[in-house]
Amino acid sequence: MKIDGTPYRSVWVDTDDGWSVRIFDQTKLPWALEVLRLTDVAQAAHAIRTMQVRGAPLIGAVAAYGICLALRADASTEALERDSAALAATRPTAVNLRWAVDRMLTRLRNTPPAGRVAAAYDEAGQIADEDAAQCEAIGRHGVELIADIAASRQGRVNVLTHCNAGWLATVDWGTALAPIYMAFERGIDLHVWVDETRPRNQGAALTAWELGRHGVAHTIVADNAGGHLMQHGAVDLVIVGTDRVTRTGDVANKIGTYLKALAAKDTGVPFWVALPSTTIDWTLRDGIADIPIEERAQAEVTQMTGRTADGTLATIQVTAPGSAAGNPAFDVTPARLVTGLITERGRCAASEAGLLSLFPEHR
Ligand code: MRU
Repeated sequence: MKIDGTPYRSVWVDTDDGWSVRIFDQTKLPWALEVLRLTDVAQAAHAIRTMQVRGAPLIGAVAAYGICLALRADASTEALERDSAALAATRPTAVNLRWAVDRMLTRLRNTPPAGRVAAAYDEAGQIADEDAAQCEAIGRHGVELIADIAASRQGRVNVLTHCNAGWLATVDWGTALAPIYMAFERGIDLHVWVDETRPRNQGAALTAWELGRHGVAHTIVADNAGGHLMQHGAVDLVIVGTDRVTRTGDVANKIGTYLKALAAKDTGVPFWVALPSTTIDWTLRDGIADIPIEERAQAEVTQMTGRTADGTLATIQVTAPGSAAGNPAFDVTPARLVTGLITERGRCAASEAGLLSLFPEHR
């Protein structure tokens, strides 16, 4: 996608040295666009753990490149297993991370150590390219939902989204935002309600930045505003991304997604979830019981970082001194609240039958 007219991906191999890995430091956005150079596996793991990169598909791709960096230092089988396990353990909820590491291991366990570095870069490049292609396909299948609403009546189409499921969260295009970008390119009159997404503000900081840089009309709202907007007819459609979908269609996504789905159900607003098939965990049936939910630091709730009037960045405490904070980072929306899923192979019901109709190889 483009930043002020220049096309970027969210992870790439440095074109000068041909091996180090470049990412945007997402903890610096929206205040600064800083590119980091990752040169070893510890830096890749740190980037994922500290959310310099985040978003389910992107952390999978960065983990794959992290294995490339690990193998440059030590291509033995022992090191491959150790470093892959360390990368897979950096974050628990998004299944794309484990999927990408497993795919790398499948290829590399069958490659002699002398050929592993080249094979790893080849496989990681394929993972990145496939993610970009899958997200573009999600956009093509999802844009029709927006186009249908636009064709059915006068006026702009209002889409609400939660967290950041844009190109910063994937290799390119995004999941929930891919249909929005395509609708924008088609010239559909479109406006996006962006949930701020406390505690880390991925909506206010990242989604709003992405949409703004691309020229898409949007308004940031407090997380608690969505239900009110839906009650008053200000939302035509909700589209969110996801970190893990069970084979029965339960959806784990950023904390607060479930409340949006409840409000959407109550008000009759369609609630769609966009995902590449790498986000489906075919081994799980009950999302609430079985999807591991990441618990993050209390400081993400008790503190906020922002820019002061003189342009400096400051972190301040926003809670009563001494009060404890809880910080579950994701929740699970049961399939019954989801209108449908948008995948790279098309749209389907959020159910086992729906998913298997698109992915019969998982029967
Ligand atoms: O904690 P994060 O920022 O990694 O959480 C990201 C989300 O919840 C996204 O909505 C999800 O990964 C979908 S990304 C296309």
